[in-house]
Amino acid sequence: MKTISSLQTARYGYTPKLPKVLTLKPETIAIEYGKPTKSVADQKELAELFKNTYGKPEATFVKGKNPSVKNEIRVGVILSGGQAPGGHNVIAGLYDGIKKGNAKSKLYGFLGGPSGLTDGKYIEIKDKFMDEYRNTGGFDIIGSGRTKIETPEQYAQAAETAKKLKLDAIVIIGGDDSNTNAALLAEHFLAIGSSTRVIGVPKTIDGDLKNAQIETSFGFDTATKTYSELIGNIERDANSAKKYWHFIKLMGRSASHIALECALQTQPNVCLISEEVEAKKMTLRQVTDNLCTIISKRAENGENFGVILIPEGLVEFIPEMKTLISTLNDLMAANEEDFNKCKTFQDKKRWLQLKLKGDMFRTFDSLPEGIADQFLADRDPHGNVQVSRIDTEKLLAQMVESRLAELKKAGKYNGKFSSYCHFFGYEGRCAFPSNFDADYCYALGYTAFMLIASGATGYLASVRNLTAPAEYWTAGGIPLTMMMNMEQRHGSKKPVIKKALVELDGKPFKEYAKNRDKWAIETSFVFPGAIQYYGPEEVCNQCSKTLKLERGTGKKTEIGTAKPAAKVASEKAKAPAKTAKAPAKKTAAKTAKAPAKKPAAKKATAKKTAKK
Ligand code: FBP
Repeated sequence: MKTISSLQTARYGYTPKLPKVLTLKPETIAIEYGKPTKSVADQKELAELFKNTYGKPEATFVKGKNPSVKNEIRVGVILSGGQAPGGHNVIAGLYDGIKKGNAKSKLYGFLGGPSGLTDGKYIEIKDKFMDEYRNTGGFDIIGSGRTKIETPEQYAQAAETAKKLKLDAIVIIGGDDSNTNAALLAEHFLAIGSSTRVIGVPKTIDGDLKNAQIETSFGFDTATKTYSELIGNIERDANSAKKYWHFIKLMGRSASHIALECALQTQPNVCLISEEVEAKKMTLRQVTDNLCTIISKRAENGENFGVILIPEGLVEFIPEMKTLISTLNDLMAANEEDFNKCKTFQDKKRWLQLKLKGDMFRTFDSLPEGIADQFLADRDPHGNVQVSRIDTEKLLAQMVESRLAELKKAGKYNGKFSSYCHFFGYEGRCAFPSNFDADYCYALGYTAFMLIASGATGYLASVRNLTAPAEYWTAGGIPLTMMMNMEQRHGSKKPVIKKALVELDGKPFKEYAKNRDKWAIETSFVFPGAIQYYGPEEVCNQCSKTLKLERGTGKKTEIGTAKPAAKVASEKAKAPAKTAKAPAKKTAAKTAKAPAKKPAAKKATAKKTAKK
C-alpha cells in the first residue's frame, strides 16, 4: 500500500476556490467575444501563416445561456515541458468541468508529454485516479516531456490519434514553446477539416509566459515561495555564523523573474538580473568587480558574509559569453562527428583553438576548466546549451575569490572570504501548490473546459484580476496568435509566442533597484518561512510580490451578463476559411498504438486518503 504524508492526505480535502462566474451552473455560463485581435508584431506574416485562427476575438465568460456545455465530449490533455506546481489541479479543474457538463464525457491523459499524442500513448482519467492527485505537486499523473510537434509526420500522427479517439479537443498545458505548438496544431486541425479543437494553459515556473492579457504563468508562485523559504533559511544561517558568502543560482533559463521575486521576498545582499547585465553590456569581469566592491564594503564593517542570487540564464546575457555560446552551438552542430572524436577536454580545447577566432578562444580559455567543459556539454534537442548544467554560481565564486586575492595583495581588501554554492531549481518545481496556485490552476482547467464546450479553438485559457480574492477573478480565453511574433530560430524565421523578460522600467525591478544599495551593505534579510496552506489569510493566501507590483490591487468585479449579438458577430468573422490549405503535407501516419497500461500509481489504493 502506498504511504501518503499527512499533508498530502489533508490536501486531498482542500476545495480550490473558483471565480464567481465559474461557480454558476455550466449551462448558465456564456462565452462573450470582444473585438478581433492582432498579434503583438509581424501581423502580415502571422495572418498568412494562421489563415484559420489569426485575429480571433478575446473571450470572457459571463452569465448567460450555453446549452452546448451539456454535450458529451471527449478531451485529451498533455503536460508539456518542465514541471510546475499546480499541473495536477489544471487537470482536476478540466476533469470536473467535463464531468459536470456531461457525466458520460471522457478525459484522456497523453503519457510523457506531446510524444504521447504522436505515439498514441494515453490513459483514460477516472474519478478514483484523479482524486489521488488533487492539490498535489508534480506532473507524475501522466508525466511530461519536451518533444516538439513540428514535422509533417508528427502533425499527421497527432491528427490520427485525435481521429482514433474521436477527440473534440486537446488541452496543452505548457510554456511559450508548447503553446506555440498548440497554436500551430489548432491551425493545422482546422486546415485539414478536423473538428478537434486545441486549447492551451499557461504553465512555467520561470514566469516568462505573461503579457498584457496573461497575468502570470502557474507554478511561479509556489516555486518562488519554495526557493524564498530556502534562501531565507540560508540568510539566517549566514547571519548566525557570519563566515560564509553564499552564491545561489536559481532556475529561470531565460528570464530573471524567479531571482527578482525571490530578492523581493528575502532582501539578499545582491541579486543579479540578467536583463540588466545585458542592457549595460557588462563583461564577466565587471560583474565580478561589482560583487567584489560589495564584499569589500561589508568586510570593512566586519561582515564577511552574505547572500548573492544568480539567475540561471546569466551567462547567456553577458555579451561576450552569449557570442561564445552561440558560436559553440553552431560549431558543434555543424561538425558533430568531428567534435565527438575529441575524447578529453584538452582534445576539445585544441580543436576549438583551430576553429574559434582569437578573442573568442581567449574568452573560452579564461574560464576555469570545469566550467569551460560544461560549455561543451551535450546540447538540448534544439541544439542549445543547457544553462541549468552550467555552474554559473561556481564560476562567479571562483572569479570573485581570485579577484579578492589580487585586491588583498594590493592592500585594497582586508576581509576573509569563504564561499558556498547552491543551485535551487528542481527543489521548487514539484512542491505542493500554494493555495494561490491550487486555486489558479483549478480555475484554469475549468476555464479550458468552458472554452472547449463553447466551441473555441486556438485559445489560451486565461484567469485574470488575480490580485483580488479568487471569487472576483475573471475567466476567459486569449487567442494564441495575439501573443505571437516572428523570431529567428536556427537559421529561419518562425512564429513564436513572445517571451516576457524582466522589464527594467517595470515596477518589480524598480522596487529592487530602489532598495538594493541598502540591502547590499546593511544586513536586511527577510525570512519568509515555508509555504503555509492553513492559517491566517495574510500568511496563506498571498500572491507573489511581482504580481502585486505589476497589477496593483484587484477589482471587486461583478459577473457580467451576456450580450448575444456581439458574440455572434465577432466569432462569425473568424469562422474557418474553407479554402485554407494544410500547413504541412499529410503523410501516412503510424497507426496509433493501443492504450498504454495503467501506471502503477493508478493501481495504488488511496484507502488511506481522505476524500474530497
Ligand atoms: P519550462 O520552460 O518548460 O516550464 O521549464 C523551465 C525550467 O524549469 C527552467 O527553469 C530550467 O532551465 C529547465 O526547465 C530545466 O529543464 P529540464 O527539466 O529539461 O532539465
